Amino acid sequence: MRGFDQLRLDRTQRRTLQQQLTDQLKAMIQEGRLRPSEKLPSTRALAEELNLSRNTITAAFERLHDEGYLQGCERSAFVVGTVTRAFRPGERQRPALAVKSAPPRQLMGPRPFRPAQPDVNLFPMKLWNRHRMRVLRRGNELLQYQSRFSMGLDELRQAVGAYLRDSRGIRCHWEEIAVTGGSQQGLYMLGQLLLGPERSAYMEDPGYPGARRCWEQAKAPIVPVPVDDGGICLPLPDAQDASLLYVTPSHQFPLGARMSLGRRLELLRIAQQRGLWIVEDDYDSEFRFDSVPQPSLQSLDEFRRVIYVGSFSKTLFPGLRLGYVVLPPELVEPFARLKATLEDHGPLVDQATLAAFLESGAFDSHLRRCRRVYRERQQLFLELVAQKGLPLVFPITGHGMNLAGHFSIEVEDTRQSAALAEAGIDTPALSSYCNKASRSGLLFGLTGFADGEIRTGVEAMSTTLVKSLGI
Ligand SMILES: Cc1ncc(COP(=O)(O)O)c(C=O)c1O
Repeated sequence: MRGFDQLRLDRTQRRTLQQQLTDQLKAMIQEGRLRPSEKLPSTRALAEELNLSRNTITAAFERLHDEGYLQGCERSAFVVGTVTRAFRPGERQRPALAVKSAPPRQLMGPRPFRPAQPDVNLFPMKLWNRHRMRVLRRGNELLQYQSRFSMGLDELRQAVGAYLRDSRGIRCHWEEIAVTGGSQQGLYMLGQLLLGPERSAYMEDPGYPGARRCWEQAKAPIVPVPVDDGGICLPLPDAQDASLLYVTPSHQFPLGARMSLGRRLELLRIAQQRGLWIVEDDYDSEFRFDSVPQPSLQSLDEFRRVIYVGSFSKTLFPGLRLGYVVLPPELVEPFARLKATLEDHGPLVDQATLAAFLESGAFDSHLRRCRRVYRERQQLFLELVAQKGLPLVFPITGHGMNLAGHFSIEVEDTRQSAALAEAGIDTPALSSYCNKASRSGLLFGLTGFADGEIRTGVEAMSTTLVKSLGI
């Protein structure tokens, strides 16, 4: 039986003999070892040859017949199908896999001093789970499709609205709030709605790369705008086709400036005059340690040009993937349409739990605790760095999750950042956030690390910098 002695069936494999036989016959056809119109042996003969039951052979032949590799002929015999001429010997070279197989990765926590990490150990998981259980006891509706809630559960949108009104002075109706998969999803959607190759985006320089990626995905040209210690610099550079401006006015990412009131008002006036949408990313305003946070830009906006974006990633935990966008009335409908297309709705059990968590006051208590702990961590870090006498200065402190440290001597910050990464310290170079601007320093995140980690982190950083700077 020419060719069929190549079949190798292994009874120790998890795959059944029938699957093995089907695959091997298919490969013989695809590689031209069995040619179109060639007759297959009878099931009885092949069963004897391979020491298999006739049922196994028949099932394999029928499967190949169903897939079009075999055709029936007289007396229930099979021949190789003619369509298989498309497969020619030697031609069946699969394109190389674009993704190289790598060993499975492990879930890991962040290394010090990775920016923008909350301390998830502070999160009151037991309390959260109690709310979760209570929510689940209400019935099975949260487990069903709920396509009418693609903008988020009403109870969560209302709770977020109340929180934003009280804490950030946000003025909106709860139906103007969309619950998103982290603020990143909100930014991405805004890019898709408002930008394009002929609609450019103003962006702080240095600025947040996550936002820049969203504008780039929308193929929008980016117009960098310098920042100083009063936030984004005005007047804006010329860009006739600009339709969006992205800012972090409460705590400029990554340098830390707070936008002055004068600039806020001027920016709103420009936006109104030029028909620009302002995207206000208020990513960590909850963590102001030395004063009450300044009201949001949105709260000053008479013209409804500000789109306010926020997140529970920093205040609760990033794995939750819940954020929100407060939309001007004009954008509610288009945003809702896009959201319903993107996903039927977000995670409903988490949304209902979060609503209950906010309404119960647990969120406010958690924030107060985080604020106290994070303030102490920032102080400890600054004291330790000062003791080491490193050539780093921190002009803006007292707010937020990150601190920008500027080198007081001339150095290439990317080299220092790479040396520190080798020593297990994660501090991105400030220049890596720049477009045209030029800054040399490192960005430190302190909130995600306990005192012990901050101490050992500063020790390792000092040893590495002293060596690599030769000081
Ligand atoms: C400035 C800024 N905006 C937005 C985000 C995104 O947060 P989310 O986890 O909600 O997507 C981050 C996260 O680090 C951030 O630093």
